[in-house]
Amino acid sequence: MRHNHSDYMHWSKTQSRARFNLATSGVAWFPLRELPIDLDKLEINGDNSYGYALLQEAIAVHHGIDPECVVESAGTSMANHLAMAAIIEPGDEVLIEHPAYGPILDVAQYLQANVKRFPRTEENGWAVDPNEIRRCVTPKTRLIVITNLHNPTSVLTPDSVLREIGDIARSVGALVLVDEVYLDAVYQRTPRTSFHLGPEFVVTSSLTKVYGVSGLRCGWILARPDLAWKMRRLNDLYSATPVYPGLLLAVAVFKHLNRLREKARRIVDADRKLLRDFLVRQSAFSAVTTDWGTTSFVQLRDGNADVFLERLRAEFDTSAVPGRFFEMPDHFRIGMGVNTEMLAEGLDCISRALTSFT
Ligand SMILES: Cc1ncc(COP(=O)(O)O)c(C=O)c1O
Repeated sequence: MRHNHSDYMHWSKTQSRARFNLATSGVAWFPLRELPIDLDKLEINGDNSYGYALLQEAIAVHHGIDPECVVESAGTSMANHLAMAAIIEPGDEVLIEHPAYGPILDVAQYLQANVKRFPRTEENGWAVDPNEIRRCVTPKTRLIVITNLHNPTSVLTPDSVLREIGDIARSVGALVLVDEVYLDAVYQRTPRTSFHLGPEFVVTSSLTKVYGVSGLRCGWILARPDLAWKMRRLNDLYSATPVYPGLLLAVAVFKHLNRLREKARRIVDADRKLLRDFLVRQSAFSAVTTDWGTTSFVQLRDGNADVFLERLRAEFDTSAVPGRFFEMPDHFRIGMGVNTEMLAEGLDCISRALTSFT
């Protein structure tokens, strides 16, 4: 039967809530009242066919690209779906990183791609190794998919490696899909989008994770103009047009993007320090830490992480994302950037749960 669901999404919507919720991946919600906008100008209906010009322009300026290359979408979720659906035919070979964000795999399988995996290993700091991609690429490869920053580890792939991946893709006529939803959580020397690296790059992103306005579902794809049109036409079969007031609010957010990002950054930075100190103290866990990003992937050295997380939630009202959703069941993912007090209490609960666990 055709693959038609996401176990991770289902878990996230039904099982991740807890008093101390460390199962997040985005920053704290930015409240509407703090956005300097004139609500009288909000409208329900307006002209919008293949993209709302002001939003397309704002996204294009944000990335320093031509608006013709911008396709609006409902979050990065729909951006990934639309991009893959426009590129992949059933049976096409698609190479996806391992560990991977579950829904990316789910969509590729739903589209009946022949999915192959290339490993990112902890020993190698979770870096993408182009040689691993070279090893599994074939003339049938149509698409290579990575997340940058990597979900779950927040590891950054540098342009030099992305260029190598682009070269590999070009050699077999494939494209590279880079999900950059977390890239702006590199707060210093923020890298430019990999879309600038060449015509084989297709990029997805949104305002959901780093800016705290997930509810707007403002996402986008960057693709060369012919592909961008293919995606817009395909989107006529999915959501046709976005929610109009959402477009107006997204344009307003773009005017104050830095303010939203800086607000979240203070919490992310404080949380990162807290988590790093915690990991140094706790020999039961190991993790590759980064100086950016909103998630950290932690290994429980001994014992079953699923059992540990179940006890953590049942007895300490604390949640984290089980590593099984990233095909690494001895790990779990901790989120940063929501509330430093909550993270501190959650980490304290992890320490206490560990005492009763071991
Ligand atoms: C790598 C990655 N891509 C896409 C998404 C979905 O993002 P959005 O909320 O913008 O749809 C997530 C959410 O966790 C993610 O981690």
